[in-house]
Amino acid sequence: MVQINVAIAGVGNLATGLVEALQYYKSNQDLIGVSYPSLGGYLIEDINIVAAFDIDDRKVGKDLSEAVRISLGAREPFVERLNSLGVEVLKGPVEDGISEMTKDVIPLSSQKEVDVAKILKETNADILIIAVPTGATKAVYKYAEAALKADVAVLNATPTPLARDPSWARKFKEARIPLAGDDIQSKAGGTVIHKGILDALTEQGVRVINTYQLDVSGGLEGLNTLDVKRRAYKRGVKEDTIRRAMPYPLNVASGTTDHLEFLGDRRIGHFWIEARYFMNAPLRIDLRMESYDSPNGAATLVDAIRAIQIARNHVISGPITAISAYCFKAAPVIVSRMQAKKWFEDFVNKKTYN
Ligand SMILES: NC(=O)c1ccc[n+]([C@@H]2O[C@H](COP(=O)([O-])OP(=O)(O)OC[C@H]3O[C@@H](n4cnc5c(N)ncnc54)[C@H](O)[C@@H]3O)[C@@H](O)[C@H]2O)c1
Repeated sequence: MVQINVAIAGVGNLATGLVEALQYYKSNQDLIGVSYPSLGGYLIEDINIVAAFDIDDRKVGKDLSEAVRISLGAREPFVERLNSLGVEVLKGPVEDGISEMTKDVIPLSSQKEVDVAKILKETNADILIIAVPTGATKAVYKYAEAALKADVAVLNATPTPLARDPSWARKFKEARIPLAGDDIQSKAGGTVIHKGILDALTEQGVRVINTYQLDVSGGLEGLNTLDVKRRAYKRGVKEDTIRRAMPYPLNVASGTTDHLEFLGDRRIGHFWIEARYFMNAPLRIDLRMESYDSPNGAATLVDAIRAIQIARNHVISGPITAISAYCFKAAPVIVSRMQAKKWFEDFVNKKTYN
């Protein structure tokens, strides 16, 4: 199969998961956690990273395989030794990439910013993954403009509105370039698990009244979202995706409450549900989940990358509803998990193009 050339803006936690996964599945036959070993004929090993952008002085100028080690923080690598990728991390446009909370921990590179569109063209990139921090809205727009200029598809991992913003959707449609987003939904992350439990209860006739899913994490993104505005924004996105997938109104709180560096890549989530069921009897659920962010996000990315390449091959442009609904939290159209999965599979099997 022809390779899928991917560029990534933001060499953080999510990029780390992707880089590790691409090497892991080159030499491992074990497919636990892989939802689709093949998507439209594409295997995970067909994904090839050709360019990477960051602004952190410790990452810019390094080979991507070395730069992602800086993002590891306190976690043990899932892949012991990463092979050199021959991809140098380049200095991207800074814009609002650094928040009040991260200004003391991200040393800004003094190198000159590159022309992102030019690099995308030179490296023959098919797809640009935008993985800059939550709230770096201007940076997201700058990368999206560069992708439009270079005729490159976009996966917007961040919560900044792109796929769900009608004006951006129109720009991509007019340029005949596919786009999917917004805010990548981790495979077994807090939002999916929360939605799954609420779905199961609702299916059984239980009426959920109040619920929260709150977590603490050790990654840089956890620190970034301690910024009051950025946290409120991310919470709004997470809460909205749950409310909109439910058939009745309920009170929802969802998001990160604190950052503890010693947790590294780990996220510890608490789920609490208060509901009523048969004869108005009360029901309460109290759960705790511990997961790792980078493999969780990368597991979704490998599906989204292959699916958007299929869109690109068939010149299906603008925001791709099916990929967005299945792989992202703040999709233009939000439906139940099972419906989203069906749309996604129908799309990949070329039965429907929505
Ligand atoms: N599982 C996941 O990792 C996951 C899940 C859901 C959503 N997301 C979203 O994906 C995005 C990335 O998450 P992450 O955990 O990798 O974050 P991170 O904080 O670990 O990494 C972000 C990286 O972007 C870099 N950066 C900042 N400004 C930049 C700019 N202007 N240009 C290029 N690089 C820049 C930072 O230096 C850092 O290396 C966030 O918006 C987050 O909300 C991630």
